[in-house]
Amino acid sequence: MSNAEFPVARPRRLRRTAAIRRVVAGTRLHPAELVLPMFVKEGITEPQPVTSMPGVFQHTRDSLRKAAHEAAEAGVGSLILFGIPAVKDARGSGADDPDGIVQVALADLRADLGDDMVVITDTCLDEFTDHGHCGILTADGEVDNDATLERYASAAVSQAAAGSQVIAPSGMMDGQVGAIRAALDDNGFSHIPILAYSVKYASGFYGPFREAAECAPQFGDRSAYQQDPAGPLGEALREVRLDLAEGADAVMVKPALAYLDILRQVRDIVEVPVAAYQVSGEYAMVEAAAANGWIDRERIIMESLTAIKRAGADMILTYWATEVARRLS
Ligand code: PBG
Repeated sequence: MSNAEFPVARPRRLRRTAAIRRVVAGTRLHPAELVLPMFVKEGITEPQPVTSMPGVFQHTRDSLRKAAHEAAEAGVGSLILFGIPAVKDARGSGADDPDGIVQVALADLRADLGDDMVVITDTCLDEFTDHGHCGILTADGEVDNDATLERYASAAVSQAAAGSQVIAPSGMMDGQVGAIRAALDDNGFSHIPILAYSVKYASGFYGPFREAAECAPQFGDRSAYQQDPAGPLGEALREVRLDLAEGADAVMVKPALAYLDILRQVRDIVEVPVAAYQVSGEYAMVEAAAANGWIDRERIIMESLTAIKRAGADMILTYWATEVARRLS
């Protein structure tokens, strides 16, 4: 057979065996880049399963330590901690309480984990406010941007003092990175990096998280501070540039799978690490379909993480982090 009659270029040559495919793979996942989101709840004595996220728990202080230890052993690079206080109020007092659930759990984790795993904290108010919004409200029930910044700054300093190694502000207030950076610097934490949730859409994919973190807004929604999925096309890059100008050390795009185009755009303009958050709804959909026998669970987990990596993520927040890290090693 001559090349004149049959194709010369044969991409299939590089796909023929598993060994060849492994050699030429352009996208590889590594446990160190995975970030495990974890929930710790004040005042419970047994871990509580999150119904809409099979396999995910609201932890006690003890079960949190155990699960974090397992993640570290599997090689997971970091965890991000969310706390659920026993008591909530209008200003989210639990967020910067030195004896708050996040702060005490941080001390536990830092004592246990040492340098085996990086401990990141989500910095926001919605888990701590009785109205469930991410900030302080005005008399008319709107979220007051600048009053909220002071609360974020105080929460971030309190988390750093308790042992957080990375502050991750997720509330989408304008100026939050700058306010937190200044407060950290003023309080002796200039060495603590900020991982900014720079691009965060007002997404239906957060549904199950609101059960896990008990933070559903009691009225309205988050559309006045989180981005519109159909919003201005330049908005995501504008948010990223502002956060970098305010001192962000790394940036995040959230959710992941429905926003891979945005992740790629961000990757292409920044020189800092980019994180992507495979959120609760992404997890729940796969678990629910798999439980029905409709999809191949492991295969879809790996395929979706590979897609997120390929789109440009350096770090991936995923509730499957421990399981996947074990599979990779
Ligand atoms: C806000 C916060 C949320 C998530 C992470 N940080 C909820 C929200 O914005 O409503 C969602 C994460 C997920 O869905 O897995 N503190």
